[in-house]
Amino acid sequence: MKYNTMKPIFILIFLMLANTICSVAAPPADAGKIIFSSRCAGCHNINKVVTGPALAGIDQRRPMDWIIKFVHSSQTVIKGGDPYAVALYDKFNKIPMPDHPDLTSSDINGIIDYIKSSAITGSASETAPFRPEKIHPAYLPLSLNTLNNWGFAGAYLILVFLLIGALLALVKVKSIQRKMSGKG
Ligand code: HEC
Repeated sequence: MKYNTMKPIFILIFLMLANTICSVAAPPADAGKIIFSSRCAGCHNINKVVTGPALAGIDQRRPMDWIIKFVHSSQTVIKGGDPYAVALYDKFNKIPMPDHPDLTSSDINGIIDYIKSSAITGSASETAPFRPEKIHPAYLPLSLNTLNNWGFAGAYLILVFLLIGALLALVKVKSIQRKMSGKG
């Protein structure tokens, strides 16, 4: 088979691969960033205190289920007598943080991922070595801790490769057929 007749196939494969790579490389923290900007940034900055506390390092200060409860309804946590929450509430002049009951745990996890990726940390061990996987977790889509999120992308990738395989096999069969019939 001549190059010219195969060109559209290569273009198709290229487009499919490009599409796959783009969808795989979109960092999951993006969703968290969007929610953070629209619903939290009015009161919170990641690295400095504004109306609310700076949120850098929140994942180390508080367990994830506490964060989720607090974001869903901070007043419920405070009224429940949680000493940390009560002290924080007093420190922030009893400004109540609005409830966000509609955010799912994975939304909140996304926000925390975004906070982690944008936090400027003081300790030298955190800042000195450049570790791209910390800043952009999705650039290593197949690392173990992100693997869970990539079930769909993975299935898609496999599909693309199967398709490419099928196309290549088809091309091969056609060229053999042509040779056998004496046209190739
Ligand atoms: C109207 C302002 C406001 C908005 C909007 C807001 N917060 Fe808050 N947040 C506060 C204040 C004030 C506090 C301090 C505790 C208090 O006063 O209840 C706080 C505390 C927190 C804490 C505990 C911080 C720590 O250092 O322990 C977390 C976590 C938090 N907010 C997350 C969020 C997230 C996530 C969003 C967006 C979905 C959000 N907040 C939106 C005002 C706000």
